[in-house]
Amino acid sequence: MRRKIVAGNWKMNLTKGEALDLYHSIGQEKIDNVSRVIFSPLLFLDALKYVETPEIPIGAQNFFPIKEGAFTGEVSYAQLKDLGIENVIIGHSERRTIFHEDDALIRQKVEVAIAAGLHVYFCCGESLEVRESGKHFDYVLHQLTDNLFHLEKEKFSQITIAYEPIWAIGTGKTATPEQAEEMHERIRLAIAQYYSNTLAESTSILYGGSCKPSNAKELFAKKNIDGGLIGGASLNAKDFNNIAKSF
Ligand code: PGA
Repeated sequence: MRRKIVAGNWKMNLTKGEALDLYHSIGQEKIDNVSRVIFSPLLFLDALKYVETPEIPIGAQNFFPIKEGAFTGEVSYAQLKDLGIENVIIGHSERRTIFHEDDALIRQKVEVAIAAGLHVYFCCGESLEVRESGKHFDYVLHQLTDNLFHLEKEKFSQITIAYEPIWAIGTGKTATPEQAEEMHERIRLAIAQYYSNTLAESTSILYGGSCKPSNAKELFAKKNIDGGLIGGASLNAKDFNNIAKSF
């Protein structure tokens, strides 16, 4: 059975007090059969550790794939590990586009995170331009082959994939359940072809892009959609938990 996951990506939002309150509120509700995880701004990770919310691990939205050194402004994977952080996002489209993270850096981040024993939430997804050109399946499969499929089979259990069409992120425009499902199905098939059926069947593939309580049920009902990576709606405890209850 694949793990069902609803992950919140708070991005660069909230003050420290707001972050602590929100995390506490989310944890007030116990929800069975789904794993929740919160990706907070790096600055709050240490404080969040002390909030009593044992069932909801926290994770980092970013890190630099070098242990230590002269990298002004960066936070290393080793510093995250030292805090007890176990989850990281890699390849989010905002990092790829705004911060110019290229395939080589993303690949390096994946390798380093896996070697450090971190669980990777790997994001992929096409722009509107690519979708309109009809090349979206090839594009996403390329991202997987370039950034992920160099990993050895045993390491792949540390990967959760998030398909996030860029045109749906923060736009209010969600992919239809059918559009999301057909991409998830292709992604799973690619894992089966590169690795094995068993691995494909055990890898969780999340959908991200304007997922909210009103559309989560329809999306999560699809066979290959194992949950969501939630941006905007994760900033409200009730909405986030309602999404987690949408299976
Ligand atoms: P959104 O963001 O839910 O606000 O569209 C999703 C994401 O970027 O992970």
